[in-house]
Amino acid sequence: MDDKEKIDDINKLIDSELINFTRELDNVKSLSELESIKTKYTGKKSFLTVTLRNIGSLPGQLRPIIGNKSNAARKKIEADILKKEQILKGVEYEKKLREENIDLSLPGRGIKAGKKNIISSVIEEIEEIFIGMGFEIAEGPEVETDYYNFEALNTPADHPARSLHDTFFVSDRVLLRTHTSPVQIRYMEKNKPPIFIIVPGKVYRRDYDVTHTPMFTQIEGLVVDKGINFGNLKWTIETFAYEIFGKKRKVRFRPHYFPFTEPSAEVDVSCNICGGKGCRSCSGSGWLEILGAGMVDPNLYKFVGYDPEEVSGFAFGMGIERICMLKYGIDDLRLFFENDLRFIDQF
Ligand code: PHE
Repeated sequence: MDDKEKIDDINKLIDSELINFTRELDNVKSLSELESIKTKYTGKKSFLTVTLRNIGSLPGQLRPIIGNKSNAARKKIEADILKKEQILKGVEYEKKLREENIDLSLPGRGIKAGKKNIISSVIEEIEEIFIGMGFEIAEGPEVETDYYNFEALNTPADHPARSLHDTFFVSDRVLLRTHTSPVQIRYMEKNKPPIFIIVPGKVYRRDYDVTHTPMFTQIEGLVVDKGINFGNLKWTIETFAYEIFGKKRKVRFRPHYFPFTEPSAEVDVSCNICGGKGCRSCSGSGWLEILGAGMVDPNLYKFVGYDPEEVSGFAFGMGIERICMLKYGIDDLRLFFENDLRFIDQF
């Protein structure tokens, strides 16, 4: 092979290397593909690098010719790769921009405002009614002693009425109050008649089904003054019942028993579903029970140092969840405690 043939030979190889490179470069779609092409055509083992490295073994007069040709090819390849790299970077940047794009015109999800639980609203409504009659609001502890919850309410340890209260005990003499009545004693201990109070609060009993929850809400009422009689009790309760349920409802008193009142009564309102004829809601009786009441048993006054010859009074207690159910026709007690806005929003 003479020099001319040798040069032609290598030139052909360089040209076909360039053709291959250009074809492959055209197909490159990502920076990582570009990287492997770069290695293939400009890396240590690439044809051009090897040619340039071995140029010393060529006859002296061929070296500049082959060297120039190889260097020019290599420069072109590097320049093309750089150009492609800039194009790809631009494309990938735009793709990234598109993917991370936030549509500011999309409406937000919206945060619903909370609302007062229906129990709280009804407590406030009842408070308003009694405040209008001159009552004040008092409160007492939910963790109570046996003394206030039972003993001082005329319910000693062996009293049969105790078994009616499924009590949560904290310890031997400490419990979760089963009703708001202990506040009667606490208030009378610290205050002298005339007393006109109502006492809203949570109470606890070991009971759980559709009509009972272990925690529920009561409002207690207590009136003690000179010359208070059953007529005053009746007027107060009737006035309250008409205010909360409306004038169309009838109210009746039924004899009952509580250890701390004598005489005692349970109070019913006529059923709003059947209008008093009798239906499933009122178990066919036409009446729905709303509260317990009675004249304060004079025995209680001994515990608080009042003179039963001087003063008399009445007390009543009602379950708020029950009042809500009757007022709004709600049939599942558990709805009150779930705080589901779809339920609460209706009131
Ligand atoms: N404490 C009684 C109860 O929980 C209700 C009541 C209160 C009855 C006051 C009479 C007087 O059942």
